[in-house]
Amino acid sequence: MKALSALVSCALVATSQAHSIFQKVSVDGVEHGLLFGVRTPDGSYQNYPITSLEDPDFACNTGIVHKDNNVIDIPAGSKVGAWWGHVLGGPQWEVDTDNPIAPSHKGPVTVYLAKVDDAAAAEPTGLDWFKVGQEGLNTTTGKWGVDTVIENEGWWYFTMPACLAPGNYLMRVELLALHSAYAAGGAQFYMECAQINVVGDGTNVGENFVPFPGAYEDVNDPSILINIYDNTGTPNNALKPYVVLGPEPLTC
Ligand SMILES: *[C@@H]1O[C@H](CO)[C@@H](O)[C@H](O)[C@H]1NC(C)=O
Repeated sequence: MKALSALVSCALVATSQAHSIFQKVSVDGVEHGLLFGVRTPDGSYQNYPITSLEDPDFACNTGIVHKDNNVIDIPAGSKVGAWWGHVLGGPQWEVDTDNPIAPSHKGPVTVYLAKVDDAAAAEPTGLDWFKVGQEGLNTTTGKWGVDTVIENEGWWYFTMPACLAPGNYLMRVELLALHSAYAAGGAQFYMECAQINVVGDGTNVGENFVPFPGAYEDVNDPSILINIYDNTGTPNNALKPYVVLGPEPLTC
């Protein structure tokens, strides 16, 4: 009986992957449509993570199918929302407790930009990325960026830096799930890119640039290879500080 139930639960795990995908943008509370200006995969692997730090598609994900020519205007200083769902459209089933992402998948959320000439046409490789937003772990409450995504029914918000120079950028939103990160290669990186046009009269063109792939280099980095469970099994990193990967976000 024990063996049977183990088998059954394995089968369940195999068919219901608790993954997530970024697929919608809002600007100052105004929502754009699903996939408007956001590049995503489709099909059975649409919501799969990347686990190799050297994956050539680490910038904007692999197997991109949905890519329109819309470029989303975003005023510098505005409140930007990135919407995550379990699958394209949100829930996978009528009652989907893994939407927008399984609550077990704790970890940080980050946003990077790369300046491009034409966001609708830009290739995602070989760009210089800088960070504009992040939420890691609150060591008082044990709340992760992922918890905010779940609390806001898929939305994660940041402020587009007010000093940012106008023009086209790719906006890369990344969610890092650390529930299995206690084993090397167990960290799950989820990311998609939106095509944006920053509007304003700022002059800041970014700082502390990093490449993707390449920004995260070391599989043994304590922010990648990490056991986030305390001695009661609570995924709060024992309320010890968690260092979010990558450079500090741009501040104006
Ligand atoms: C952590 O959470 C507490 C309680 O919600 C909040 O007062 C505090 O500002 C948070 N700390 C950070 C660094 O966000």
